[in-house]
Amino acid sequence: MSVVKYLNPHLTKITPYQPGRPIEDVARELNMNPGDIVKIASNECPLGPSPKAAKAMKNAIKEMHLYPDGGAYYLRKKISEYYELPPENFIFGNGSNELLIFIAQCFLHPGVSAVMSAHAFAIYKIAAKMFGADAIEFPMCGLTHDLNAISKGIPENTRVIFICNPNNPTGSMVNERQIDAFMKKVPDDVLVVFDEAYAEVCLKKMPDTIRYVKEGRDVIVLRSFSKAYGLAGLRIGYGIAKPEIIQAIEKPRQPFNVNRMAQIAAAAALDDKAFVKKSLRNYKKGAELVCDFCKAMGLTFEPPTANFMLIKVGNGAKAFQELEKRGVIVRPMAPYMLPEWIRVTFGTEAENGKFIREMTEVLACL
Ligand SMILES: Cc1ncc(COP(=O)(O)O)c(C=O)c1O
Repeated sequence: MSVVKYLNPHLTKITPYQPGRPIEDVARELNMNPGDIVKIASNECPLGPSPKAAKAMKNAIKEMHLYPDGGAYYLRKKISEYYELPPENFIFGNGSNELLIFIAQCFLHPGVSAVMSAHAFAIYKIAAKMFGADAIEFPMCGLTHDLNAISKGIPENTRVIFICNPNNPTGSMVNERQIDAFMKKVPDDVLVVFDEAYAEVCLKKMPDTIRYVKEGRDVIVLRSFSKAYGLAGLRIGYGIAKPEIIQAIEKPRQPFNVNRMAQIAAAAALDDKAFVKKSLRNYKKGAELVCDFCKAMGLTFEPPTANFMLIKVGNGAKAFQELEKRGVIVRPMAPYMLPEWIRVTFGTEAENGKFIREMTEVLACL
């Protein structure tokens, strides 16, 4: 007998999220030097943290005996100037991931539904199930959100629709015209979550979804400091919505959910436009290189719109294992019901080169 049998029944249905394998893990398991391993599995920034953030963090070490400012006053002020929106339009999370959970906690429960695409970020389904709601997954049009089908099929008891754009893991995007047509059909009392973790590293034009916030629609736009600013290890993201929605989502937030170092680094990173530009240039080069490689090898791929792409290799699990043995960590896509595919993040020039060399060998043994 064990208390485990009393586990919250909503949680028994959850398969925990499988993140990309850490370099240290793989190094230990395969007895390799961590320096020889390339991780292109979690859409992290390969150029390190924003230098402006790094400098601010060094200076902030002596303040780390103090709790953070729960209201993130300074960062809130900076971000409100950045977006030219009032401070009340923002909420900060321990990664934008935490905000996804707050949204679910606030609006999802037994008897209601959350809508999402079949191959969208895995946390949406986990978050819905965690609070006992139904996760309604819509088939995609190829590997892109079918907003038209979603808008025609929103169940009446829907409270939240998650739209990941650019979409992780497929790397596809929906444009402003498609989003606009969709928003015309979404009922007013359904919260649309535009998960835009890749907005700043998007290779195409990002649709303006913040205008729905300005129009007073029930929408929240989520952004992250993990990708463009290279601060994934600090865990900080934010949401932009009308104050009424922000106040609701603030309810489950713990007072010190965003740590002091993260707040300081994020505020400094916002000024680091040069770094974001440099990252974007690096991703464009990476995208070109890996797409050319796929074409040359006759591999099907989803044209990338952010800092990662999906490649159809036939047996994604085997390709993942073989690449790992050769010191390259990618992401197998079976957990996303795409077992023939792997997802690859664009790294530095050297990392991309290693991926291409090792992948060429792996393709021969698949
Ligand atoms: C689409 C999407 N949303 C949210 C997140 C979580 O980002 P954060 O690091 O801000 O929690 C990720 C991370 O990979 C993501 O891909």
